[in-house]
Amino acid sequence: MSLKSRFKKLLPRTIFGRSLLILIMPILLLQAITTYIFFDRHWEKMTSRLAFAVAGEVATMAEVLEGEGGQTQIDGLARYAAQNLDLLISYVPGAGLEDYQMTNSQVDWRRQMVMDVLSAELKAKVRRPFAIIIDTDEKWVDVRVQLDSGVLLVSLPQRRLFSSSSYIVILWMIGSSIILLAIAILFMRNQIRPIRRLAVVAERLGRGLDIPSSFKPEGAWEVRQASRAFLDMHERVKRQITQRAAMLAGVSHDLRTPLTRMRLQLAMLPEGPDVEALKQDVLDMERMINAYLDFAKGEGGEQPVRTDLRVILDRVVAGMKRQGADVHLEMDQDLSLLLRPVAMERCLTNIVTNARKYARHIWVSAHHIENGELVEICVDDDGPGVPEDQREEVFKPFVRVDQSRNASTGGVGLGLPIAREVVHAHGGQIWLETSPHGGARAVIHLPG
Ligand SMILES: Nc1ncnc2c1ncn2[C@@H]1O[C@H](COP(=O)(O)OP(=O)(O)OP(=O)(O)O)[C@@H](O)[C@H]1O
Ligand SMILES: [Mg+2]
Repeated sequence: MSLKSRFKKLLPRTIFGRSLLILIMPILLLQAITTYIFFDRHWEKMTSRLAFAVAGEVATMAEVLEGEGGQTQIDGLARYAAQNLDLLISYVPGAGLEDYQMTNSQVDWRRQMVMDVLSAELKAKVRRPFAIIIDTDEKWVDVRVQLDSGVLLVSLPQRRLFSSSSYIVILWMIGSSIILLAIAILFMRNQIRPIRRLAVVAERLGRGLDIPSSFKPEGAWEVRQASRAFLDMHERVKRQITQRAAMLAGVSHDLRTPLTRMRLQLAMLPEGPDVEALKQDVLDMERMINAYLDFAKGEGGEQPVRTDLRVILDRVVAGMKRQGADVHLEMDQDLSLLLRPVAMERCLTNIVTNARKYARHIWVSAHHIENGELVEICVDDDGPGVPEDQREEVFKPFVRVDQSRNASTGGVGLGLPIAREVVHAHGGQIWLETSPHGGARAVIHLPG
């Protein structure tokens, strides 16, 4: 698989999904860049400044206590620190760092980072052994410094070390993207609804169904334009069908009347081989005219209904068997489809009749394929098959491989064209292949 098609597979399939992606990608990218810059620059700088200040204060305290008479001033120093620096300090003479609990509770990466920065600052400024204990629950940080004759304990609230604005910035960024997305989804939905509706209508037209009267052009200009074009096309097709039906009714009447007259006159003539031949010709002509008219009439406005394809196939195959054909039928359990039953039966009869005409054994099968999206009907036979260069040709009206339109070898060459028209009116496809049984295979795909 090429890179391009792999990439295409990853893309969402619907317009909705794609347009959301187009919106989300830049937002995410922007947020990622902003977050990176914020943390890399602003947050780190803030943290190191805060740590710098705290470390400086702790170092000053340590210096003062270590100085001459320093330890006598501890009370004053503690008061001063509590009032002005937000630090609680005390001094334990004679103690060592090892007298205190040293293990730190588990901290998240953000606190850990602050601790590391503070640790580095303290190391640089205090230059004595020290320990930092962070208390996640109480929101206090304890710094203990080993002095020459005791331990200096400093407790400071965590807010002296953490800049709280970082949370707000991140929350704001997440919040704003959620709001943006929500608005985008709302608007996109409304924009896409008319396109979806148009797709449904187009698909109904393909199946030869009527357009629901509630459908009217709406949405963005392009979509309205396309909808209007569809409605126009639908009108034109309907008009053509009505015209064709009217013309056929006339032609049918005009042709049949002289033929009937001829048949009557022939019946009155004395019997003889010439008269017999003429009678046969008239019969052939009648049969052909009927076939042409049937074809030209099309599916005749039959409305689609939910039908069990199994019933139709059963009937077609039973009919063939009655005529002595050897037909093997195999079907899925549930084949309920939206069909025009009479037209579909005619289509299938045409195909099975062809197989019967040219072969001895017939295999008919109907199955769901493509996860039930399609129903595939195959009609196989073990006859001579249709030459590859003729497989499209024979779907044209009046085309026959053997070219004889003689009654003894069969019809007029309208069986397959009619079958194709019916299948197309159902939104399906029909074509010929080579059968695994050696003869021809007709394949029909119908939307499931
Ligand atoms: N199963 C088949 N095996 C071999 N040839 C076939 C088969 N089905 C169709 N053909 C060829 O395709 C041609 C066209 O078929 P089509 O059904 O359209 O017409 P027809 O059977 O000759 O006449 P009609 O069906 O109108 O009575 C046939 O004349 C035949 O040559
Ligand atoms: Mg035929």
